[in-house]
Amino acid sequence: MTDMTTGKELPTTGREIQLASRPHGWPVPENFRLAESAVPELADGEILVRNLAMSVDPYMRGRMNDAKSYSAPFALDKAMEGGAVGEVIASRSDERAVGDVVVHALGWREYSVLPAAASTKVDLSLAPATAFLGALGMTGLTAYAGLTRVAAFKPGDTVFVSGAAGAVGSMVGQIAKALGAARVIGSAGSPEKVAHLLELGFDAAFNYHDGRAVDLLRDALGESAGIDVYFDNVGGEQLEAAISLMNPFGRIAMCGAISQYNSTEAPSAPRNLAAAIGKQLTLRGFLVGAHQDLAPEFFTKMGGWLASNTVRFDETVVHGLENAPAAFIDLLRGANTGKMVVVFG
Ligand SMILES: NC(=O)c1ccc[n+]([C@@H]2O[C@H](COP(=O)([O-])OP(=O)(O)OC[C@H]3O[C@@H](n4cnc5c(N)ncnc54)[C@H](OP(=O)(O)O)[C@@H]3O)[C@@H](O)[C@H]2O)c1
Repeated sequence: MTDMTTGKELPTTGREIQLASRPHGWPVPENFRLAESAVPELADGEILVRNLAMSVDPYMRGRMNDAKSYSAPFALDKAMEGGAVGEVIASRSDERAVGDVVVHALGWREYSVLPAAASTKVDLSLAPATAFLGALGMTGLTAYAGLTRVAAFKPGDTVFVSGAAGAVGSMVGQIAKALGAARVIGSAGSPEKVAHLLELGFDAAFNYHDGRAVDLLRDALGESAGIDVYFDNVGGEQLEAAISLMNPFGRIAMCGAISQYNSTEAPSAPRNLAAAIGKQLTLRGFLVGAHQDLAPEFFTKMGGWLASNTVRFDETVVHGLENAPAAFIDLLRGANTGKMVVVFG
């Protein structure tokens, strides 16, 4: 295939990761298949993108199940999908030119063909391409929207965030500090991650493997009476601990429940939900997709925080599309600090 505008040879086939079978419990490498497939011809309004990097995210675990959820299940024997960033190498749209770098939702493959309108152009003078999958992308917006809108954060609040060394959690804690939190507490799964959270400016952090979450969280509160905002990335025992230690009128943003994503049994916690009545708590689940209107405000603020080093972001980088399934499984096991990304080439 030759591009009519540039005269350049375009790829006719590309590698992709397909869903080979659906996991029961933890995903295994056999659930994924590396395959070569044809790159479709461009229709009017479409672009061809050579992907530079793709995102692996916990929500993809839910899409591997054949179950009704907020996002459709991945189809068996088809390429999986998800966030990716890449360079436009052919365009049949006035909206995007060859050479533009765009973010889109057809990851897990080397080449993506999609409507130009389903892509967002990014500016690599602001940050490297992978940042638009994390701090300046979907996970950063999740943190900002969840904290400021869903949990109605106010300066002076005491904030607890679980999954704090991950992509969303590390942003939540740092944004809370930047916006004037009285105390920010984070939890994570290793002593190295706990030390890293303190380096990032968290006031206290604990390893949730070190004991009962409620005891660890009570110690981390120090002089604070209780928690005003809990940003929940994990559910289960840590949600139960937070409910026990919330202040009256506290707000809980229910972002994720990763402690349950690979579980084949019903969760044993929280057992204290009724405490939300007496404390007059708000527990509010949310999806980042419903808060896209905050994207311009978020982008301006996060751009400023990154430029002034008020917020720092970490990435755990895996190289090669063929290693994307392992990167995804490792993410679920906590191998990442900050955003887990797969870089091609
Ligand atoms: N609602 C939305 O729109 C939305 C959007 C994006 C993400 N999310 C959710 O936000 C959460 C964080 O996502 P992310 O992309 O930032 O991933 P992430 O935190 O970068 O990576 C997942 C982390 O989860 C932790 N984890 C794994 N098993 C755990 C368990 N049993 N208990 C506690 N922590 C466990 C691991 O860290 P440790 O080493 O600390 O265990 C791992 O690094 C997920 O629940 C995700 O589904 C929701």
